[in-house]
Amino acid sequence: MDEKALDKKTIFSGIQPSGDLTLGSYLGAIKNWVELSDTYNCYYCIVDLHAITARQNPAELRRRTVNQLAQYIACGLDPQKNTIFIQSHVPAHAELAWILNCYTMFGELSRMTQFKDKSAKNADNINAGLFTYPALMAADILLYHTDLVPVGEDQKQHVEITRDIATRFNGIYGDVFKMPEPFIPKVGARIMSLSSPDCKMSKSDKDPGGCIYIMQKPDEIMRSFKRAVTDSETCVRCNPSDKPGVSNLMQIYSVATGASFEAIENEFCGKGYGDFKLRVGEAVVELLRPIREEAERLIADKTYLESIYKEGAEKASHASAKTLRKVYKKVGFVER
Ligand code: TRP
Repeated sequence: MDEKALDKKTIFSGIQPSGDLTLGSYLGAIKNWVELSDTYNCYYCIVDLHAITARQNPAELRRRTVNQLAQYIACGLDPQKNTIFIQSHVPAHAELAWILNCYTMFGELSRMTQFKDKSAKNADNINAGLFTYPALMAADILLYHTDLVPVGEDQKQHVEITRDIATRFNGIYGDVFKMPEPFIPKVGARIMSLSSPDCKMSKSDKDPGGCIYIMQKPDEIMRSFKRAVTDSETCVRCNPSDKPGVSNLMQIYSVATGASFEAIENEFCGKGYGDFKLRVGEAVVELLRPIREEAERLIADKTYLESIYKEGAEKASHASAKTLRKVYKKVGFVER
């Protein structure tokens, strides 16, 4: 850590390489991460250990992990300013996760909404890793003395359980862990599915048209926007509860172009949805074009990507080793 990093607050966040990155992950997460890079000491992780709580095709997982790194960089995350790394490259995550498992209660884990949702969706693979997922996430966060964890609303409960685990551990052994806080950005945080705008845009969306991917080709993006679900009112106006489809399109258009909601209403007043959907699609195509092109260039440069993830792993290993050593000592393991 350099001198300057010492006075900065620390941020940790991660995305699972369980699917290709979506427009939702860009606008809801990565775009904000880029803005935080100057002010904070940031760790941005590709959480492959978490990804295997659902069955993955090994070749696909490997491809998506490296491509995700390329996309992080193409979205504007500077590997010089941030520590960008692959979770499985830093064994301290798995090691601390085991220890934290022993300080996490069965009852607490049973109450996690994500566990209940995911086990309902994958009834044939309710594995122990899915159950103890929050202990691994707590390890991610606590290893770096993280102050703030930028996450979507759906991950708030995971930051809360992290605090509970840290409080329990600190209560027994003294001040070992810093207490992290969730950091939920105000705007652009929640991009919804284009085909079922009541649900968050997600790579696990059943309908492929509902989700836009960062690497998608312009004609496919346009096709999805043309089919986006709206309503029968034919008026471009924001009202998330009555008009979730149109409001979501306005939200996307607003973050893609910088236009205010009022300006969007004026621009499309009396024009009908067909025109509006085309314009939102075009704005997204133009927003993603340079990112896709840069990511494609980087994906072709395996040597560069390898140098970035190796350097990231080294920085992260260095920063986390001290915390893990302290924890080992506190719980009573013999020093090696
Ligand atoms: N659970 C998060 C998700 O599914 C991913 C994640 C893993 C994470 N470890 C993290 C997010 C640490 C923030 C901090 O979105």
